[in-house]
Amino acid sequence: MKNIIKPIGIIYSQNKTPKGTPIQSSTAKNISGVVEVYPEFVEGLKDLDGFSHIILLYYFHLCKETKLVLKPFLDDEFHGVFATRAPCRPNPIGLSYAKIEKIQGNKIFVTGLDVLDETPLIDIKPYIPEFDYNEVEKIGWVKKNVNKLPEAKDDGRFAK
Ligand SMILES: C[S@@+](CC[C@H](N)C(=O)[O-])C[C@H]1O[C@@H](n2cnc3c(N)ncnc32)[C@H](O)[C@@H]1O
Repeated sequence: MKNIIKPIGIIYSQNKTPKGTPIQSSTAKNISGVVEVYPEFVEGLKDLDGFSHIILLYYFHLCKETKLVLKPFLDDEFHGVFATRAPCRPNPIGLSYAKIEKIQGNKIFVTGLDVLDETPLIDIKPYIPEFDYNEVEKIGWVKKNVNKLPEAKDDGRFAK
């Protein structure tokens, strides 16, 4: 199982330190970066230029420790890790949306990154609103604090 997932590239981003990094892609529209795919996977980028947005899956390589119950950025109360989007989880896998600005060879130039510089990339998928829910009935504990999202930044509590 351990060897099934291996990085397919690296995400380079303007976010050089955890502290001050936006906590979600939706509030990181001004943050740009480059998603660099290793040469052996470049063929897989064929036709990606027909999409405006992508989903990035990546490895939170700078996580400190995994806690099953934690205080997420948007609340002062404890929640189960699986009821949060906190980075340090049993499998520290991140999911972010990004806007494609241009693709050149093995490089996808993007904006909208809540991802730190030099993060190992696991997968890229096209974002398709018709496939992905954008309206739901409930957003749990986040509802009471979602208004804080535009200003919320990482304070360094999870990453090295
Ligand atoms: C709350 S997480 C959400 C990430 C993603 N949008 C998700 O929902 O899976 C966002 C924070 O993770 C931190 N982060 C980004 N890349 C990281 C990495 N490679 N290792 C550790 N922390 C990282 C950033 O500082 C950012 O503020």
